[in-house]
Amino acid sequence: MMENVTFHDHKPESLSLYDAVVQGLSKRQKSIPPKFFYDKRGSELFDQICQQPEYYLPTVERLMLDQYVAEIADLAGQGRVLIEPGAGSASKVRLLLDALQPSAFVPMDISFEYLKTSATELAEEYPWLSIRAACVDYTHSLPVPENVPVGPRLLFFPGSSLGNFNKQEACKFLRLVHTTVGSGGMLLIGVDTKKNYGVLNAAYNDAAGLTAKFNLNLLYRVQNELKADLNPDNFAHKAFYNTEAGRIEMHLISKLKHTLRLDGHEFKFEEGEYLHTENSYKYSPEEFISMAAMNGFKSLRYWVDDQGLFAIYLLQSE
Ligand code: AVI
Repeated sequence: MMENVTFHDHKPESLSLYDAVVQGLSKRQKSIPPKFFYDKRGSELFDQICQQPEYYLPTVERLMLDQYVAEIADLAGQGRVLIEPGAGSASKVRLLLDALQPSAFVPMDISFEYLKTSATELAEEYPWLSIRAACVDYTHSLPVPENVPVGPRLLFFPGSSLGNFNKQEACKFLRLVHTTVGSGGMLLIGVDTKKNYGVLNAAYNDAAGLTAKFNLNLLYRVQNELKADLNPDNFAHKAFYNTEAGRIEMHLISKLKHTLRLDGHEFKFEEGEYLHTENSYKYSPEEFISMAAMNGFKSLRYWVDDQGLFAIYLLQSE
């Protein structure tokens, strides 16, 4: 084990897959929360989605981080405690570390196994960096390990993951970040923009069919982990931009009338019935900056790429 990394298990006390499925399928509008996409296979599929030409978000965000990292470091200064909820493979933060020279890096992830592997690799690659990895469900809380140095904090939240919260949850998350970074603390966040719906629809319906596999993987989890009597082939992937709500919606559509059985529960599906699996809200810079302001953050600077596809914001808590 490398000496510059420690691990902290905050044992996320969030809903189990079983409880979430029973609750979600008992509702009139059936749903399963998107955080359950990310088992090992789901995380691998998401990594593959990120390499599809239609799913522009990570490519554009990386180019922008690379282009603006010096400016970001000028504004944020060096030596902050850098915190990344949902860090996963921590690939984007590598673009920032040299310029920001954090006093410690706190990657947070819901999967302890995934966190162990990725934080250990990072510790080997950056022997000067002190890493305090924490197993956390960030949709719930953001507990920072006690052994992080005292000092100003910067929370990094790339990938437009904020879009997977509804508006109320997004505000709650921003307030949680506000408390976590404290006064004078900062937030560096990547958020997908509103744009031509053709571009958005293509991003969530890639030609290689990976987003469809990612969506359907939820049902394989329910079948394999919960031993549900269910045939994933009874469902099809559906993703579209809902202009009025300003979000991509992902659903699994039942191809036929059938019953899904789980541990004594029976969930009846009509032909064409939607099981809602994800929202991905898109924000114009005006919308996002005003939502951030309502939750205690002032925008120091933001960057949008030439084609208006993606935005990165550096905000300071007031
Ligand atoms: C993780 N999150 C920001 C992705 C998104 O774009 O909402 C998840 C995703 N769903 C389908 N494709 C990617």
